[in-house]
Amino acid sequence: MTIGKIIDGKAFAETLRGKVGDGVIAFTAKTGRKPGLAVVLVGEDPASSVYVRNKGKMTLAAGMESMEFKLPASIGEEELLDLVEELNADDRVDGILVQLPLPAHINEASVIGTIDPAKDVDGFHVVNSGLLATGQDAMVPCTPLGCLMLLKDELGDLSGLEAVVVGRSNIVGKPMAQLLLAENCTVTIAHSRTRDLASVVHRADIVVAAVGRAEMVKGEWIKPGATVIDVGINRVTDTEDGKSRIVGDVATAEALAHVRAITPVPGGVGPMTIAVLLRNTLVAAHARAGLAKPEGL
Ligand code: GUN
Repeated sequence: MTIGKIIDGKAFAETLRGKVGDGVIAFTAKTGRKPGLAVVLVGEDPASSVYVRNKGKMTLAAGMESMEFKLPASIGEEELLDLVEELNADDRVDGILVQLPLPAHINEASVIGTIDPAKDVDGFHVVNSGLLATGQDAMVPCTPLGCLMLLKDELGDLSGLEAVVVGRSNIVGKPMAQLLLAENCTVTIAHSRTRDLASVVHRADIVVAAVGRAEMVKGEWIKPGATVIDVGINRVTDTEDGKSRIVGDVATAEALAHVRAITPVPGGVGPMTIAVLLRNTLVAAHARAGLAKPEGL
């Protein structure tokens, strides 16, 4: 039995962060200032706190300016919108990221809609999702863009391939489908209500699993030779040793016998998200400074 390749997202992300670091040096030499990323965290959700801390560290490691704003969960929507407006007006800030989810009393769409689209390094503003959907230059959400980079690195030209995206979130599923469509794939978006998901997935040359359910996509669903990108990060308790561990949305061990290549969890898509965030911040800094897009990114 042949075993598929494990795609090393960690190594790919390291290389990308290195290229961003080189771009930051060149940008700073040209403009006399560093690119700046502002990250806003509301409340103390443990997972969000870990992400925000890592983003801050990686931003500094790439040679950029990092600004962190930690606000209490009790903050009012108006106050948060005021902060976003201040960051929009601050010339040192090239990228603004408001960590999601926000507390229930704050309207996420209003907050995202207040971010200057040119500084929207998450690519969540409707201007950016609209630009992406109409095939124009846009800020693209980090996780799906990272997935696309891994797919192109593995497969080269994606034209004409059948792609099935499992999951329809605004953060991953929908922008992923748009990116694959722009690469001339035949795209299906499946989700939790899809009938006979197994046979839909079985059509795919490319499977992107982003449903948030532990090991939901079974190995036998995968068409032989397909490439699988697993976006899931699910904490489960091992029934044998009682320890908790992180698994993806795909039953990886089973899938390995069917795939051409697959991303592992952890170490696949996860490390790509922050690397692409830094890339988007550098790209935003160039656009704001009237410079051409950095090459090779
Ligand atoms: N929460 C989970 N993923 C993300 C992301 O990519 N960006 C933001 N802002 N919040 C998130």
